[in-house]
Amino acid sequence: MAFTPLSVVVSANPHGKLAVWEPVRRDRVYIAGVEIGTLASNIAVYRDDLARARGAVREPIDWYRYDILANLVHLDLLLSGENRELDQLVDGLPVADIGGADGDLAFVLERACGWKVDMIDTAAANANGLRAARALRDQLGSTVAVWDIDLDAQFRLPAERYGLVLLLGILYHLQNPFYVLRALSEQSEHLLLSTRVARFAGPNRTSIGELPLAYLVDPTETNNDPTNYWMFSPAGLDRLVRRAGWTILDQLSVGDVEQSDPSSPEHDERRFLLLRSTRPAPAGGASVRPASRSAGHRARVSRALRAALAGRRT
Ligand SMILES: C[S@@+](CC[C@H](N)C(=O)[O-])C[C@H]1O[C@@H](n2cnc3c(N)ncnc32)[C@H](O)[C@@H]1O
Repeated sequence: MAFTPLSVVVSANPHGKLAVWEPVRRDRVYIAGVEIGTLASNIAVYRDDLARARGAVREPIDWYRYDILANLVHLDLLLSGENRELDQLVDGLPVADIGGADGDLAFVLERACGWKVDMIDTAAANANGLRAARALRDQLGSTVAVWDIDLDAQFRLPAERYGLVLLLGILYHLQNPFYVLRALSEQSEHLLLSTRVARFAGPNRTSIGELPLAYLVDPTETNNDPTNYWMFSPAGLDRLVRRAGWTILDQLSVGDVEQSDPSSPEHDERRFLLLRSTRPAPAGGASVRPASRSAGHRARVSRALRAALAGRRT
């Protein structure tokens, strides 16, 4: 299945949706400006396409069991105002999907947004030793780079600087969340983070929601899965990200937002955050950003494009 990586893509079908899966001519001028709502509304198309790609893979693979693309629905609810224009967050820099499992989201973002994407996970924890991500990449003809990096080691990211890192559903699997968040704040401008949180914990359901706490689960306490470690209270997560070098731009809590605990499926709460690094980019870091793709420039182009598609003049 052809899965041509695109540098910049915007085209509209008669229904006003982005026709992101269609073959794209490279000799036209394409203007990036993908909005999160557009990605969310195209989920069914992406799912079908990835299901077809999985079906065409010959080797037997124990695929990741959960719906990775459902993140797009939550990100659509999370992001507000200008933050919905994903290209503004990325600003011409590479993107990393950390803990990406089979890479579904990385492949969709590469194809729909035209970004250079690193998919990072570690074979030791990954459901299929990263075989699925590599097989899908080959099947799709994607240029997403699949990296085996353990975030609980003294890790180095493949690129020096990222515009956006996705860290979805992995923080509670990490032994050293403060270290990871601080390290990422030195290399990425923005972070999309989601993790499970808890307002009550322990045998007596002690209330922890208002205090900046982290609860270390027993190896069998959450899904009988010993790779689960730290469940933060909502206040604990917010303090963690701030002290690790981030400021909160957008926030969303989903699930049981009143009685959440670390272990019962019916009291599962997830918190989604859009964060901006408070650490200055290293001197000379600006040189890795293409001059023609400043946020202001792309915002103007994006507005003009939307107006054109809607038949308006700006
Ligand atoms: C629950 S899945 C999240 C999948 C996807 N991001 C989502 O939100 O649906 C967590 C992923 O994190 C990876 N992971 C766990 N510990 C890791 C570590 N120390 N370093 C890198 N990846 C890790 C696992 O292999 C798994 O694929």
